[in-house]
Amino acid sequence: MWISILPLLITFIQPDSIALGRDIRGELAGNVLKYLKEGTVSAMNFIKEGTAHFEQEPKDEKNILPEYDFIIVGGGTAGCVLANRLSEVRNWKVLLIEAGGKENYVMDIPLIAQLLQFSEANWKYNMEPSGNVCLGMKSGKCSLPRGKVIGGSSTINYMIYTRGNRYDYDRWEKLGNNGWGFKDVLPYFLKHENMMIRELGEERLYHATNGEMPVTYAPYRTPLADAFLEAGKEMGQRVVDYNGKTQVDFSYLQATMRNGTRWSASRAFLHPIRHRSNLHVRKRSLVTNILIDRDTKTAYGVEFVRDNKKFVVHARKEVIVSAGAINSPQLLMLSGIGPREHLLKLGIPVIEDLKVGYNLMDHIAMMTLTFVLNQSVALTERDALSSKNLFEYMSYHTGPLSVPAAVEGMAFYDSKNPHDEEGDPDLEIMLLAGSLASSSFAQKTLQIKEDIYETVYKPIEKCHTWTGMPVTLKTKSRGRILLSSRNPFHKPRIHFDFFKDPADLESLLLILKKVLELSGTQAFRKYGSRLHDIPIPGCKHFLFGSDDYWRCALRHFAFPVWHLSGTCKMGPAMDESAVVEPRLRVYGVKRLRVVDASIIPVIPAAHTNAPTMMIAEKAADYIKQDWTQNIH
Ligand SMILES: Cc1cc2nc3c(=O)[nH]c(=O)nc-3n(C[C@H](O)[C@H](O)[C@H](O)COP(=O)(O)OP(=O)(O)OC[C@H]3O[C@@H](n4cnc5c(N)ncnc54)[C@H](O)[C@@H]3O)c2cc1C
Ligand SMILES: *[C@@H]1O[C@H](CO)[C@@H](O)[C@H](O)[C@H]1NC(C)=O
Ligand SMILES: *[C@@H]1O[C@H](CO)[C@@H](O)[C@H](O)[C@H]1NC(C)=O
Repeated sequence: MWISILPLLITFIQPDSIALGRDIRGELAGNVLKYLKEGTVSAMNFIKEGTAHFEQEPKDEKNILPEYDFIIVGGGTAGCVLANRLSEVRNWKVLLIEAGGKENYVMDIPLIAQLLQFSEANWKYNMEPSGNVCLGMKSGKCSLPRGKVIGGSSTINYMIYTRGNRYDYDRWEKLGNNGWGFKDVLPYFLKHENMMIRELGEERLYHATNGEMPVTYAPYRTPLADAFLEAGKEMGQRVVDYNGKTQVDFSYLQATMRNGTRWSASRAFLHPIRHRSNLHVRKRSLVTNILIDRDTKTAYGVEFVRDNKKFVVHARKEVIVSAGAINSPQLLMLSGIGPREHLLKLGIPVIEDLKVGYNLMDHIAMMTLTFVLNQSVALTERDALSSKNLFEYMSYHTGPLSVPAAVEGMAFYDSKNPHDEEGDPDLEIMLLAGSLASSSFAQKTLQIKEDIYETVYKPIEKCHTWTGMPVTLKTKSRGRILLSSRNPFHKPRIHFDFFKDPADLESLLLILKKVLELSGTQAFRKYGSRLHDIPIPGCKHFLFGSDDYWRCALRHFAFPVWHLSGTCKMGPAMDESAVVEPRLRVYGVKRLRVVDASIIPVIPAAHTNAPTMMIAEKAADYIKQDWTQNIH
């Protein structure tokens, strides 16, 4: 049985279209072989444990009923929460339909999270080239990974747990979204939280310890994590719990993991309820159309395709679209809900003319601000995948492989009021204990052009490096998602010039300079930290290190950091750009809701997984209220 890990690792890591440069597969396989030869009990345990994990995922239901009370489209972050909460009502029958397949225990290994982007578990979207951004990426396109697997993007994400700021949600409320102020949403963050960091768990106002979703620090830390906090102090900042009273300043990473293992939304919300007979989960099935009665404008079911066969299933109460910020607007538009002109052009009969696909937002970051160290304190792929470390991870779930995508620290800044202790952050720094050069797949995931990589990063592949990732949180530029055809199997077009509003470029430059300052602190200098200074070929005409040089670098390498949101915006009736009302019902169509990151009206200062879980918790309560208190 334990021989199965080798094919598993290798098949899983098959990069279908992309040949990985330095062959990590070979490396892994070599180590695993060596490991097999050693033949230890822990390998058996790792596989036994992994297999047990598989078995706890709800099974793929073959016998679908003709009708359910609720159909949830998409088993991602929001879909898993909803499926759990709605099936608590024993006489409601719930169907969850997911386009992707089951989770796999290789997906649980935190350090290699990026690798999942090469697998079938990723939709592999790309932005349309704009000529203004992503200039250093192949064909001028930034990649937009999305989870296509049970758990959705929570199964391929970096596990970073951040809620955002109280002011973010108070702004949602001020826009007319009653019930979405911070005081209203906090209980829904707490509802599923299991804060496992003891000292934070004691802070009862901001944390809970009895929910489904574990939040903890990674079990392993490099010396750079501590250097980061010390550097913060040197710069006059505090060390805080960014999910506590104040968000600004420095912290170790809080992650949705447990015992060194990823805790996806499926693992948290579906595994424990796999025996509920009123919940059916259908996998590898793509919903292609929402069935809507044209006369009454009432949703009554969906069509889905599995193995080239078409199925129809009806919903007695509601269809809930939780397909994520790219696929939810796509599905609405395919079903006749969207901008009239765009739909007519594609020959789709319009049921409701709404601003679907507009308001695409993200946080913008850059992963190429690299610093070289003179001591071996960072994470490198070669070390991490050594047999010793593989062995340690398999036996104890500790060691370098337990660090989520090499992210170890976070800092939030409020550039408008830098001395305000409460803070309303617009900028963030992420500490990566490695870089593009220390990983054979980072370059491929970001799609950085080969020649740029060879010139700039190849020379430091053997070095220990770290990256300070500058991130903007209050971005002004907006993108748009359009259908490319009426075929549901065609990827939509994603237009997103995220520096269209020059203020976004300037704020990213501001936080980039903070990162440069960070490297100059005693805490980092003691490891010999120095800025990697081979200029990007396309920016050579600017003086290296000048503002114009960095602006050029940002146009080359900045990318949306995969927190896509806003494309089915929530807003009050008077807001013409709103697609759903504050109870998340689609305007003008009955018995249809959207519940996922696409309803976000203004992106919060948070990586969006926790906010999406909150949104789904809140929606579940709205749905329960609407169907138990009102007569329909
Ligand atoms: C690589 C990556 C790293 C990230 N890192 C972090 C992080 O560290 N921390 C954080 O907070 N956030 C992170 N995010 C963002 C976060 O994971 C997402 O914001 C969140 O998961 C969105 O949840 P959702 O429910 O809106 O969509 P998803 O979780 O994407 O779920 C949508 C689901 O619907 C399915 N689906 C889509 N269309 C159909 C259809 N037509 N029929 C059937 N099923 C369909 C999809 O397969 C998917 O499973 C990351 C995202 C990515 C991609
Ligand atoms: C963590 O995982 C290891 C390896 O499977 C296991 O031996 C250990 O009991 C787990 N610890 C906890 C607290 O679950
Ligand atoms: C690394 O650089 C720092 C700062 O320049 C220096 O103090 C230290 O001795 C160097 N360490 C090594 C091992 O070279």
